[in-house]
Amino acid sequence: MSDGRYIALEGAEGCGKSTHASRLATALGAVLTRETGGTAIGQRIRAILHDTSINNLSHRAEALLAAADRAQHIDEVVAPALAVGRHVVSDRSVYSTLAYQGYGRELPIDEVRHLNRWAVGTHWPDLVLLIDAAPEVLERRMRGRQLDRFEQEGELFHERVRDGFRQMAAEEPERWVVIDGAQSLDSVATDIRTATRERLGL
Ligand code: TMP
Repeated sequence: MSDGRYIALEGAEGCGKSTHASRLATALGAVLTRETGGTAIGQRIRAILHDTSINNLSHRAEALLAAADRAQHIDEVVAPALAVGRHVVSDRSVYSTLAYQGYGRELPIDEVRHLNRWAVGTHWPDLVLLIDAAPEVLERRMRGRQLDRFEQEGELFHERVRDGFRQMAAEEPERWVVIDGAQSLDSVATDIRTATRERLGL
């Protein structure tokens, strides 16, 4: 029986998720991975999703591309690692599609959840760490960076995404931990380690 645990880090662009995913994976000796783009096929899908020259991608096609990336990622990376007892730390997961395509693009949440149930199978993250910070904090960190298709979206889109993440965390408190992303890098890392210890005993 597998005792590998699947941990996802979620949050807005600029919240420090990738740095913390990497630090946590090192601390746990876990497989470090990401959505989108955690596989070679996924990188090609990610290139479409992020391409700023594409201005007519339909919201449903966007949701399906994210789900296709996920199906490949679960089959190629997540499920095999868990099956041999490795822990998996993923920079984003199925909850990003619910937040961005569901809440952000305002596609019906139940439908987005339904199509992702098929993409994910039984592999929903055991623990989701939401690094949450106010838009002003994130904006400061993003200044000077080249923006992708999602980052170019307006304030209201990003507000809906943030509210969506917070709502999902409130609805499933046993699966989610909300971490204050306005803190220093080290304080966020400490909170993440505390959460993984308390929730999963790792
Ligand atoms: P990041 O990987 O650099 O955080 O950027 C990924 C971008 O893609 C981010 O703006 C969120 C977006 N995204 C979705 O819209 N849906 C998804 O399912 C995933 C995984 C990411």
